[in-house]
Amino acid sequence: MSTTPATLPAEDAPVLKLLNVESAYGPIKAIRGVSLKVRRGEVATVLGSNGAGKTTILKTISGIIDPRKGSIEFKGQDITARDPAFIVQQGLSHVPEGREVFALLSVHDNLLMGAYTRKDRDGVARDMEAVYGYFPILKERSAQDAGLLSGGQQQMLSISRALMANPDLMLLDEPSLGLSPKLTKEIFEIVVRINRERGTTILLVEQNANMALNASDYGYVLENGRIVMEDTCANLREKDDIKEFYLGLKETGMRDERRWKKKKNWR
Ligand SMILES: Nc1ncnc2c1ncn2[C@@H]1O[C@H](COP(=O)(O)OP(=O)(O)O)[C@@H](O)[C@H]1O
Ligand SMILES: [Mg+2]
Repeated sequence: MSTTPATLPAEDAPVLKLLNVESAYGPIKAIRGVSLKVRRGEVATVLGSNGAGKTTILKTISGIIDPRKGSIEFKGQDITARDPAFIVQQGLSHVPEGREVFALLSVHDNLLMGAYTRKDRDGVARDMEAVYGYFPILKERSAQDAGLLSGGQQQMLSISRALMANPDLMLLDEPSLGLSPKLTKEIFEIVVRINRERGTTILLVEQNANMALNASDYGYVLENGRIVMEDTCANLREKDDIKEFYLGLKETGMRDERRWKKKKNWR
C-alpha cells in the first residue's frame, strides 16, 4: 500500500517539470512527447547520442525555442514559451553547448555579465569569490580576454558565468564536448561540488554517459527526440543496454556488437 499523500508538500514538488513537450525546426520534429522532472537539489541527466535532441530540450526550457506542444513548469510557475530574459530572472541559468563566452571581454567582465540582472552587490562579490574558489585558474586570468582561454577554461568560465546569476537550476549542455578526459573529469567533479555545496539543482545533457551517470542522481535516455528510458543513475549503470551502447562495456564479442547496433531493445 502506498503511503504517498495525494498532494505533495511544496518542497517536494519538482523544480522543473516538462509535460509532453514537442519542438521542431520547420518541418523537422526534434523532440516529441518529452516529459521529465528535476527534483530540488538533485543532478538529473539526459543521455543521448549526437542529434538525439538534447540541446533542443534545453533551448526549449530556457525559452530560446518555443515548443509546438506541451508545457514547462519551473518552481510551480508555467514558463512555457516565455521570454529567455524572464526565465533567467526566475532563477534558471543555461550553460550553452560550445561555451559561448564573450571573447573580447575579460574573464572578470564575462562573470559580471552573468550577474547583470542582480541588484545585491554584496551577493555578486561573494559569488565572484565563490567561482574563483571553484576555478582558481579564472582568478589568475581574470584580466585576460576570454577569447585567449583554452577550451577547458572557457567551459569553466561559461559555467561560472551561469553561476553568477545565483540560479536555483542550472542547465548544462555537454560540458565534456571537445575536452580531454582529464579536464572533463575535473569539470564534472566541480559540477558535483557546486550541487552539493551551493545546493544548485542541475540538469545536465551529455553524450558522455560514463561521466554523466557518475555525476548524476537520476537519468533519462533520449533517442530520436523521445525519452525511451528513465531510472536512478545507480540502476541505469547496471542495465545491459546502457553498458553496451553508452558505456562501451561488452561482455560478448564483435558478432554480438554488430547485432545490437542493428537492433537495440531498450528495457
Ligand atoms: N537549427 C536547426 N535547424 C534544423 N534542424 C535542427 C536545428 N538544430 C537541430 N536540428 C535537428 O534537430 C535534431 C536534434 O538536434 P539537437 O537538439 O541539436 O541534438 P543533440 O543536442 O542531442 O545533438 C537533429 O536531428 C538536428 O539535426
Ligand atoms: Mg547538442
